[in-house]
Amino acid sequence: MTIQQPARQTVDLAMFGGDRAVPRELGIRPWPMVTGQDEQAVHRVLRSGRFTSASSGEQEIAGLEREWARFVGTEHCVAVSNGTAALSVALGAAGVEPGDEVIVPALSFIGSATAPLHLMAVPVFVDIDPVTFNLDPAALEAAITSRTKAIVVVHLHGLPADMDRITEIAARHGITVVEDAAQAHGARYRGRSVGSIGAVNTFSLNVSKNLATCGEGGLITTDDADVATRA
Ligand SMILES: Cc1ncc(COP(=O)(O)O)c(C=O)c1O
Repeated sequence: MTIQQPARQTVDLAMFGGDRAVPRELGIRPWPMVTGQDEQAVHRVLRSGRFTSASSGEQEIAGLEREWARFVGTEHCVAVSNGTAALSVALGAAGVEPGDEVIVPALSFIGSATAPLHLMAVPVFVDIDPVTFNLDPAALEAAITSRTKAIVVVHLHGLPADMDRITEIAARHGITVVEDAAQAHGARYRGRSVGSIGAVNTFSLNVSKNLATCGEGGLITTDDADVATRA
């Protein structure tokens, strides 16, 4: 494939004496930033006595699912315990079974590859594009076999992968695309939010992520009501 090289920079990187891209004050802020609104929300939950989505009348988790589906632009959102669980639940809901092959990028967080293993499916590592650090569509197509059931597309460091080519290849081979948007909340690809393009998609709410919770959390997004129900 022809890779478009980024426009030539006329400024020096900070490591070569140029200005910092991120002001020092921002860089040393604690993450996540906990606001008064966050504290009020936690107290609201503690006072409600409803701590899981199984509690009758629970509003906060159901509200998060509704709002996240609206934000991403999908019909459904299902909250789970973390981003890795979101991926294995999403793959299972999409019909991945023991022995199936699931293509994953060779460069990602380990969860992208352990999620298929939780289903006793086989993660097949595919090389990344050296410019974007995301799945290389040509290498992806070369790795497809008769056992390939799904492709986990990671938008690494918030940069969307080449979804046009990946979804075209997947459609031609009848393979399910699962976006792993754990690092890409709010990123957009050709006007669409990531996490709305694959058949079923996932986000992490780990405390280290762009959208952080008080520890662990995960979200699954899909337009498919059956997939959402199975998840
Ligand atoms: C690309 C990617 N996928 C999956 C995960 C797993 O998310 P979690 O840590 O919430 O299980 C992460 C988290 O680091 C990630 O960066």
